Amino acid sequence: MHLSTRPRNLDQALKNVTKYRQIRSRFAMTLLEDATKIREMAYAPYSNFKVGAAIRTPSGAVFTGVNVENAAYPEGTCAEAGAIAAMIAGGETVITEVAVIGSSQEPTPPCGGCRQKLREFADPSVKVTMGSMSGKVLTMTVEQLLPGAFTPDYME
Ligand code: THU
Repeated sequence: MHLSTRPRNLDQALKNVTKYRQIRSRFAMTLLEDATKIREMAYAPYSNFKVGAAIRTPSGAVFTGVNVENAAYPEGTCAEAGAIAAMIAGGETVITEVAVIGSSQEPTPPCGGCRQKLREFADPSVKVTMGSMSGKVLTMTVEQLLPGAFTPDYME
């Protein structure tokens, strides 16, 4: 392969990934179904509490994440943080919808730190759908979950 053809191929591959994500999110599942499916991949051998998160962006793409625990307990990371990291790595910075589901019988609320992480990229009106193992679902806005948030606005 000529070196000169590589950037073009890479460019096409990246376009295909974007297209795939958009088509998939339009035809496939609700965001909560995305979160539920990815939850199975969580690495939670210490708490046995698996969490899956899915976030949608204005392009229609869906980014997912799971909690990843560690033998050094404080080093574990939340599912929401994983989904946000995937979004940033994917070149997007705006969240339009969130879904999270954990191993609880009641809808799993994002932890305090994750509420702050989500608020960095989500408007106050963005909906956060919380799922559970019992099938109970609760939807709240980012503002309801984190009133009076410290936001990037304060840094201006
Ligand atoms: N966890 C999340 O992944 N997201 C949350 O918002 C709540 C908590 C994870 C962290 C830890 O691996 C497990 O759930 C139990 O706290």
